[in-house]
Amino acid sequence: MTEGVFKGLEENRIFQPSEDFRKKALIADPEIYAKAEDRLAFWEERAADLSWFKKWDSVLQWNPPHARWFDGGKINASYNCLDRHLEGPRREKPAIIFEGEPGDSLVLTYAELHREVCKFANVLKSMGVKKGEVVTIYMPMVPEAVIAMLACARIGAPHSVVFGGFSAEALRDRINDAGSKVLITSDGAFRRGKTLPIKQNVCAALKGVQGIEKVIIVNRTGIDIEIIPNRDVFYHDLMKDASPDCPAEQMEAEDILFILYTSGTTGKPKGVVHTTGGYLTGVSTTHQYIFDIKEDDIYWCTADIGWITGHSYLVYGPLTNGSTIVLFEGTPDYPEKDRFWEIVEKYKVTILYTAPTAIRTFMKWGAGYPDKRDLSSLRLLGTVGEPINPEAWMWFFKHIGKERCPIVDTWWQTETGMIMIAPLPGVTNLKPGSCTVPFPGVKVEILNKAGQPVQNGEVGFVAITEPWPAMLRTVYQDDNRFKDAYWSNWPEKYFAGDGAKVDEDGYFWIIGRVDDVINVSGHRIGTAEVESVLVEHPAVAEAACIGKTHELKGQAIAAFVTLREGVASSDELVDELKKYIAVKIGAIARPDDLYLTEELPKTRSGKIIRRILRDIAEGRAIGDTTTLADSSAVEALQKLSRS
Ligand code: WTA
Repeated sequence: MTEGVFKGLEENRIFQPSEDFRKKALIADPEIYAKAEDRLAFWEERAADLSWFKKWDSVLQWNPPHARWFDGGKINASYNCLDRHLEGPRREKPAIIFEGEPGDSLVLTYAELHREVCKFANVLKSMGVKKGEVVTIYMPMVPEAVIAMLACARIGAPHSVVFGGFSAEALRDRINDAGSKVLITSDGAFRRGKTLPIKQNVCAALKGVQGIEKVIIVNRTGIDIEIIPNRDVFYHDLMKDASPDCPAEQMEAEDILFILYTSGTTGKPKGVVHTTGGYLTGVSTTHQYIFDIKEDDIYWCTADIGWITGHSYLVYGPLTNGSTIVLFEGTPDYPEKDRFWEIVEKYKVTILYTAPTAIRTFMKWGAGYPDKRDLSSLRLLGTVGEPINPEAWMWFFKHIGKERCPIVDTWWQTETGMIMIAPLPGVTNLKPGSCTVPFPGVKVEILNKAGQPVQNGEVGFVAITEPWPAMLRTVYQDDNRFKDAYWSNWPEKYFAGDGAKVDEDGYFWIIGRVDDVINVSGHRIGTAEVESVLVEHPAVAEAACIGKTHELKGQAIAAFVTLREGVASSDELVDELKKYIAVKIGAIARPDDLYLTEELPKTRSGKIIRRILRDIAEGRAIGDTTTLADSSAVEALQKLSRS
């Protein structure tokens, strides 16, 4: 390995943290990996860094695949994010720096955030929300969204945050599955200078839903909205008289903190369940160590609160660590394509955590945009959501980090709750495109189908071979699905659904999903989810979707559809079907390509051969077709792709 400050970049592409960075790093001693070999002792010590009402009786009870971490301990996530910072100088430290899309900004100190959260927790109580009842949150990126999450945590009501870009139908499914009585939302959201009708979606979603008793509306845009008397109430009215005194509920370590729906390989999204004590231990430790958190950092994670990254590394990790977070409502290209860099300059952001898809977009826009801004406050960069191609890594390194900032590429999932594979920037050398090595106390292996470790850098399946504190505990109301989806391939080892290889230095290179999940701009979409929507359309007989390589998004969806007898194919129908998916799921699921075809390629037993569809969508020569039941299907498809 080369010596010095990121020397020898182009030759062998190994980057060593600079002497200066290492000297100041929170974790600079590689001994930590050896020390954490005693996993339980390591995590127990980390848990002790949190504030507990009562200490745990046992660190881990492992009855595969069910884990209980810090059982017997009592703790509250909101208390750890807020109350414990109020005694010392953090009291007046900014917790949230909010940058609104129109350019408005607001700072909430820890004391102020605590007050708002307590008040809103009392509002929720007055609405009859009880410990254990799931509250659904469907909101844009405004401070009230964070307040709502922490208020739920404070009273022990698990939250289910639904990404604001999901459609009314997707929202309805998630409300029904969670059985929520209370929904927190906003009138609208700002998006590229326009307003999105959030409340209107809510009204559409709630048609035919029995369970919801109260809808709490944050006024963000001031647009006209429909109000259903007795059901719909305004946040600001309720907050006026709410008491700021609300002690945090003493929760069991294993009580549910939140559920978060994510796409899987079947049509219905899964409610991934995370609990309290282990989750907080995992996210606070990884946040602190991987992002090298210092007291004066201005930390910006660009993820939406509707995704796990927003939960773990925008809200719970950083606030537990008493960090100042930047919360940005808008998009990178509004009003100009330098909005991110304007924000870095304006707030002197020191740590920026974002997605490869965004970086590739910035690359396309050109270095002119970041170049006109002062980015000298930045000292560390991070990526998440999909593999980062080395070109994008180098661009990020040069044009944003100015060859000064390490990049932490972090691999993890909604289910893992916390980052699992990533560098410790003061210890680990970096290789562009590799998420490097498992976090201390985390055990990852690359296995073949039979569950044996693969040899000599071959590609295999990512398996997590020992329980970890932030692991999902189950799928909400569906423990069988939890067992089937993650633990049925190899007993006692977690199947992540990703393919990867390990190089001679022990570095992990993630290839991507090996199941029927498509990763569009870092967002997971199940092929089955899109297919089941398509076949609901009266014109459609059969549908198959695949992910095809996309320059910016990583992957884009391509759908292949056969029509019912008597339905004529047309360009209008193609558009209608694409729109249908956007309406039923959300714009992120809209396919880039939709082919109407007479037949789908199938095996003799009737299974669709997706590999052939992938070849067609990518415009490649079609591989082995010997298993095909009928070769005319492929001829028809080939004609399509040429037309
Ligand atoms: C992918 C996001 C390569 C992976 C936190 C995983 C990554 C899925 C990386 C989880 C990375 C996430 N390198 N691939 N650094 N991070 N992935 O649940 O395929 O939205 O299985 O969680 O994203 O997506 P999820």
